Amino acid sequence: MEISRPRGTRDFLFKEMERRKYVENKLREVFENYGYGEIKTPIFEDLTLFTTKSGEAIKEEIYHFKDKGNRDLALRPELTAPVARLYLNELQRQAKPIKMYYFGSCFRYERPQAGRFRQFWQFGCELIGGKSPEAEAEVIAMAAHALEELGLKDFEFHIGNLGIIRSLLSDAEVAEADQEKIMGSVDKGDVDELKNLLQELNVHPGLKETLLNLIEVRGHKEVIEKVRSIIENCKGASNSLNDLEELLNTLETFGYTDYIVNLGIARGLDYYSGIVFEIYVSGLGAQKQISGGGTYNLIEVFGGEPVESTGFAFGFDRVMEALKKQNTEIPVKGHMDVFVAPLSQDMRAEAFKITQNLRKEGIKTDVDLAKRKIKKILTYANNMGARYVVLVGAKDIATGKVTLKNMKSGDQHLVDMDDLYVEIGHEIG
Ligand code: HAM
Repeated sequence: MEISRPRGTRDFLFKEMERRKYVENKLREVFENYGYGEIKTPIFEDLTLFTTKSGEAIKEEIYHFKDKGNRDLALRPELTAPVARLYLNELQRQAKPIKMYYFGSCFRYERPQAGRFRQFWQFGCELIGGKSPEAEAEVIAMAAHALEELGLKDFEFHIGNLGIIRSLLSDAEVAEADQEKIMGSVDKGDVDELKNLLQELNVHPGLKETLLNLIEVRGHKEVIEKVRSIIENCKGASNSLNDLEELLNTLETFGYTDYIVNLGIARGLDYYSGIVFEIYVSGLGAQKQISGGGTYNLIEVFGGEPVESTGFAFGFDRVMEALKKQNTEIPVKGHMDVFVAPLSQDMRAEAFKITQNLRKEGIKTDVDLAKRKIKKILTYANNMGARYVVLVGAKDIATGKVTLKNMKSGDQHLVDMDDLYVEIGHEIG
């Protein structure tokens, strides 16, 4: 019987894990340089954590179940709601702003395709209690900085403000439920579907035209003036546009000018309230969005005080894919530096001692555990990517020496056992 992986999941082998670890560590470095501390939350949570804002419909898109105590639980589809819960449980009294980052797997019941999985990883952050637009600008600068550090090129940073469209809809007294439908359709980016929906909902033709114009807006800061003239009669939308302008000015002082204003960003999740942003990498097909985030009001929704919060998450798997597509070099060290090979069975104990000494010196060392003949050991060590083999022979040991073989050049020479780790350490750096 062959048991295969569940649909939408993956196994990662050694090389890929080395690459992922490298990227994870680089992201950690950047986030920590911006003052973020790492947190971890449970993989499963109370189902209500995810249905409170998004409604029962979200159950279709997530993994949820009853446990043996009849509790309704869900595998987390994302980490912003869990972090808001953690804040309410543990951190309300902590001095603000609180900067938290996380790296963990998420689960969504989606139709798997390239770049879209049922288990995937997010590397993200939440900045709780920072005043906008400076907090927003810093969060956005960090996202761009992180990608630069990874060596990713050709990514597009799109920034918008949900408040503009939402205010227009509220001013026109479009019901909350209909607003959600409209935002959902904007998020899909399907203009025909949006047109039909606006028609169906009897949205005033003037507003309909304004919305269709707004979602097409793309450009640098100069588009702000153009938008201002379109929305000048709606005070809420004008305020949101001013917020966006202030954010872009602040972002420039953080050193980032390479962004695209995009008022068609609606974000799939329901909790965003203002600035939103997404990062795209072309060449990834339909799943080109490698990151998304914005300003949200979840803490208030869960019964806490209103606290300004902003965050984003990298789709870690998509970042890996983007790096691969752009042939970005990721330095991958093999997981073995040295292989120790006893030349005869009576040298095994000696080989184990040498192995342990090297390991204690911090050198990645493996030893023959299969009682193979030397020729086979060399083939195995070569296949495993060992850079050196230490040949342990009775005659050499009698004089306190071993033979060190460089697997790349094939050169080998006798080394005093006491000098072994210094010599290997020197060679492998
Ligand atoms: P999100 O846009 O739903 O936002 O997810 C963040 C990123 O996760 C996406 O941009 C995408 O790269 C990746 N992603 C989403 N679904 C999948 C999937 N099925 N397979 C592979 N990658 C996927 C959030 O989750 C928000 N919590 C982000 C945030 C943090 N907002 C504020 N703070």
